[in-house]
Amino acid sequence: MIEITNLDVRYGAIRAIKDVSLNVQQGELVTVLGANGAGKSTLMLTIAGALKAAGGKITFDGRDVTAATPEKMVRYGIAMVPETRDVFPDLTVVENLRLGAYLHRSDKAGVMADMEKVKDLFPRLREREIQAAGTLSGGEQQMLVIARALMSRPKVLLLDEPSLGLAPTVVDQIFEMIRELKATGITILLVEQNATKALQVADRAYVMQLGEVVVQGSAEEIAGSSDLSALYLGG
Ligand SMILES: Nc1ncnc2c1ncn2[C@@H]1O[C@H](COP(=O)(O)OP(=O)(O)O)[C@@H](O)[C@H]1O
Ligand SMILES: [Mg+2]
Repeated sequence: MIEITNLDVRYGAIRAIKDVSLNVQQGELVTVLGANGAGKSTLMLTIAGALKAAGGKITFDGRDVTAATPEKMVRYGIAMVPETRDVFPDLTVVENLRLGAYLHRSDKAGVMADMEKVKDLFPRLREREIQAAGTLSGGEQQMLVIARALMSRPKVLLLDEPSLGLAPTVVDQIFEMIRELKATGITILLVEQNATKALQVADRAYVMQLGEVVVQGSAEEIAGSSDLSALYLGG
């Protein structure tokens, strides 16, 4: 579904992504692991069209999207949840969700139905639907940004460190929710520093270090390699 070949991304003179090749097949949950500064967010932002590649190619559903804008990528079916977890704090939960459905705003009945679906998936959001998003807890805001991304009806969801900075019990809830999302059939690319948790939900994994993919394999293989965890994942 997503095919990345020999991708290079730079910030001026800094090469943040070096010759990265990676693919995600339909219905898969693929995780990208790596320490701080490995280039994970840069990779996600480039797939989403927010950063331009300096070299290499990205295809989505067989179409060359290497130079596509973020708006185009959303239309094609890619939704990204950045690590910044931005909600519109003064808008209610429902209003935040409606903004995610911007592309489909003429289809009022469809948007209503999508809204019910995401509220079924996240009962906590239903309970708080008329509450200002800024008053939600960190975990609830994470749920809201994921739910808002789903309102664009994506084929692929890009999740950048959804567990970052959350308490352990909330982290468990977020990963349980990712497991439920995967069961709906949506394709997911998940960036995480929490390798143990990510490998429990993922089908395959890539490990990045200093802008390069250093290891790839099935989640099982990588979870079972203690060397790997010591070398690259701080385990
Ligand atoms: N806006 C930026 N300008 C310059 N360098 C950046 C910028 N964003 C990230 N970098 C650098 O690019 C590298 C990869 O960063 P990033 O993709 O955020 O890594 P990760 O998400 O894995 O922590 C790091 O060396 C980081 O300092
Ligand atoms: Mg990051």
